[in-house]
Amino acid sequence: MHIPKRYALLCNTEIFQLKMLSDLTRIDRYKAAVAALVRPGDVVADVGCGSGLLGRLCLDQGAAKVYMIDVSERSLDVARYLGAIYHPGADIDYIAGDAKSLTLGEKVDLVVSDIVGTFGDDEGMSETLPAFCRNNAKPAARLCPVRVTVHGALCRWHSSSELPELLEPQRPLVDYAASEFTCYRETDPATISLCHAPVVLADFDGTATNRLPASWTFPAVPSGCPCTAIAVWVRVELARGIVIDAGPAGERTMWCIGVFTPPAALAGTLGRAPLTVTPMFQADSKVTLRLDA
Ligand SMILES: C[S@@+](CC[C@H](N)C(=O)[O-])C[C@H]1O[C@@H](n2cnc3c(N)ncnc32)[C@H](O)[C@@H]1O
Repeated sequence: MHIPKRYALLCNTEIFQLKMLSDLTRIDRYKAAVAALVRPGDVVADVGCGSGLLGRLCLDQGAAKVYMIDVSERSLDVARYLGAIYHPGADIDYIAGDAKSLTLGEKVDLVVSDIVGTFGDDEGMSETLPAFCRNNAKPAARLCPVRVTVHGALCRWHSSSELPELLEPQRPLVDYAASEFTCYRETDPATISLCHAPVVLADFDGTATNRLPASWTFPAVPSGCPCTAIAVWVRVELARGIVIDAGPAGERTMWCIGVFTPPAALAGTLGRAPLTVTPMFQADSKVTLRLDA
């Protein structure tokens, strides 16, 4: 089979951006949120712009200027390329760098972002957005998303019936220590049955006032309930009343459900007593749950 050279040279960064550009539910919901938030003439920051999708949605709604910011030069190349096609002549500043430590030349009216990850903080959202806003947002600036809640529940997890995701097949992402839960990213909600009503593990409104909690606690369930795993997912309020719920009862988007299976010592006892674990978010999407003693 002939693979054109440019395609063959796509790296993970570009494939990741392509996946996000193909997630129609996510795009549709961001489009509605941006339509509710942008005012004509706004100066906007697209924090973690990737392909520049969110900033371009803001231009479509009448924003006067967009700062597109990303740590990844390769993503910025894609954003520049698409910006030239879809918004030639628009006032767009492309900035390579870590949004946590950037200072723009002016304060912005609106900050749009999708650095939510699968668990609300695996891309460092709770640190990055407040730091960026402190340095660069007007006091009355609007923020998208306005709120991210992380939900979880003990569950029964059956093996997936669908094809694995392109980059994240159904396998542990890393090697785990004996005290750590193994993390899978599940895309098929039908494989998950919750054993109790979901608990809110974290609640984040874009300010620094309610950083994500250090540990997650799950209740005991009635004896005989065959729990096999913990399911964790996000509910993202992009603008007031405009929501993406990535949970088992929610919608299919690339924000999949994190499924954590217990270390051998705990298998079979899950749910018999309340369980507290510490989530640890590390580089390269590595997320582990460490058992609290
Ligand atoms: C999930 S992608 C979203 C891309 C695009 N905004 C979209 O919605 O399609 C997150 C992007 O944020 C960037 N990113 C993550 N943390 C960042 C930071 N602290 N500063 C700048 N960019 C960051 C990543 O490189 C990645 O391109």
